Amino acid sequence: MNLILLGAPGAGKGTQARLLVEKRKMQQLSTGDMLREARSSGTEMGQRVAAVMDRGELVTDEIVIGLIAEKLDSGSEGGFIFDGFPRTLAQADALADLLAAKGQAIDAVIEMRVEDEVLVDRVSGRFTCGNCGEVWHDKTRPTKVEGVCDACGSTDLRRRPDDNAESLRQRLMEYYKKTSPLLGYYHAKGSLHVVNGLAPVSDVETAISGVLEAAG
Ligand code: AP5
Repeated sequence: MNLILLGAPGAGKGTQARLLVEKRKMQQLSTGDMLREARSSGTEMGQRVAAVMDRGELVTDEIVIGLIAEKLDSGSEGGFIFDGFPRTLAQADALADLLAAKGQAIDAVIEMRVEDEVLVDRVSGRFTCGNCGEVWHDKTRPTKVEGVCDACGSTDLRRRPDDNAESLRQRLMEYYKKTSPLLGYYHAKGSLHVVNGLAPVSDVETAISGVLEAAG
């Protein structure tokens, strides 16, 4: 089962991808996480993409397609969850070609629909554990003890440099200009499903499970 999670910044893609990994043994492929890893490792590519990410713009297709191609080579028994990829029509075509070369295809695409006003709150309150990657929120998902990750006990809790109002405005613009055309692209292929991303995390999870059962 290969699944794409589509949605604006803060729609809850990462949160749901982590739940799917836990319950279905699927592998999460987040280009955002891969790019953040590259920037923190200080590679030349990492340095090049850091400023682009902080401005809220999209990194080039060539770089992200290269990152995904590398990961697909390792395969995944439970299938892949594409989180934040593809984000352009060129990326969508490249993904279809990469999967076809392995005799695979995308089984379902889920749009997580959330209103823009909610996204500002979601993104500005988000923090992530630097050790285990668990995603938290100041109001909707706080840790039990302030400054300590409930999942692994780490105190390395981080906020992203692009989680500010100005970057978010640009990220939303990029989403509507370059990524939202993918909704029509996948609708035409018959693989698009819409879930209400405004619902509580567990309800969104149930809705996604329903789509996967039907597609599997
Ligand atoms: P990326 O890391 O992919 O960021 P994004 O798409 O902007 O998405 P986010 O990670 O911000 O949000 P999310 O939907 O995962 O929400 P989350 O689950 O964390 O990309 C970052 C940058 O990298 C891009 O701007 C670009 O520069 C570059 N990039 C990445 N991929 C690229 C590509 N393919 N091409 C080109 N450039 C690329 O949830 C958010 C918060 O809400 C959390 O605090 C969470 O606890 C809370 N929450 C989640 N669900 C719910 C719910 N149902 N109810 C209440 N709260 C909730």
